[in-house]
Amino acid sequence: MEVSYKSLGLVNTIDLFRKAVKGGYAIPAYNFNNMEQMQAIVQACAETSSPVILQVSSGARKYANQTLLRYMAQGAVEYAKELGKGKNIPITLHLDHGDTFELCVSCVESGFSSVMIDGSHHPYEENAALTRRVVEYAHAHDVTVEGELGVLAGVEDEVKAERHTYTRPDEVEDFVGKTGVDSLAISIGTSHGAYKFKPGQKAEIRLDILHEIEKRIPGFPIVLHGSSSVPQDLVKKIDKFGGKMADAIGISEAQLREAAKSAVCKINIDSDGRLAMTAAIREVLYTQPGEFDPRKYLGPAREALKELYKHKNVNVLGSAGHAFD
Ligand code: G3H
Ligand code: 13P
Ligand code: ZN
Repeated sequence: MEVSYKSLGLVNTIDLFRKAVKGGYAIPAYNFNNMEQMQAIVQACAETSSPVILQVSSGARKYANQTLLRYMAQGAVEYAKELGKGKNIPITLHLDHGDTFELCVSCVESGFSSVMIDGSHHPYEENAALTRRVVEYAHAHDVTVEGELGVLAGVEDEVKAERHTYTRPDEVEDFVGKTGVDSLAISIGTSHGAYKFKPGQKAEIRLDILHEIEKRIPGFPIVLHGSSSVPQDLVKKIDKFGGKMADAIGISEAQLREAAKSAVCKINIDSDGRLAMTAAIREVLYTQPGEFDPRKYLGPAREALKELYKHKNVNVLGSAGHAFD
């Protein structure tokens, strides 16, 4: 049975991005795979009064099942309303790194309000044609579409790229015009995972390319993937309690704040949440070896995750206080 996101109380990204670009902040796009992550995201965003994009990756779909994740997002709308005492923050349910037309259709039919079609590994014309096809289908259902130009180093869509292929500013205008996408993910030196730079390497992203892109498509919503900051206190805590994460390095918060002030209106964060949960779980299991009730370690993990997201909304993305703009 087809379900429209509208009947679930979810929203697409049109208004969110328009306001974010105008207001000089970015909407958080947090990945979730389970209940504790979803609770932490909704609590953090309700407490900071931030709009939010709940992201579902292929990995999440394999792990938790697409239908269950959609019901969880439906529950998130009710839960946010409860937390906000009737005043609910806007929530988008978004497919992260969709790789085929069929997958995007299946998500639209099951209640997603936004999809990403990531054709960035294909040659330019093939990427544009695939993206256009998804846009035509999704727009007929009022669902928004994110496309991507340029390839991030690291693992993306289970394809491993050794080096970044930065987005070419001279291609963006044509791509946006040809495809009709609502937002564009670009490659400017961010990458997925917790090891974004080699030790000794300059840990900086190419904001100069971002500014060049903005000149070509003024005010058009830009998306940054791979934007975890890999907080070093979390890395140290993981290592202290038996982990091994030396040399994990992320994107500086100052550079992300700078990007959020521009046309970057969606910032994707997954790895930092994984680090926060892992650090908290490791601490409990290491310091209380007799503990075996999952609530005793998932509870603190959820709390740590919530605090991390609140910090991001307030100090990095600047989305706090913008839920009811
Ligand atoms: O784009 C990458 C996200 O962090 C999702 O990762 O496919 O392991 O769930 P995943
Ligand atoms: P991180 O691995 O930097 O958290 O990036 C997540 C992401 O881009 C999801 O699409
Ligand atoms: Zn991504």
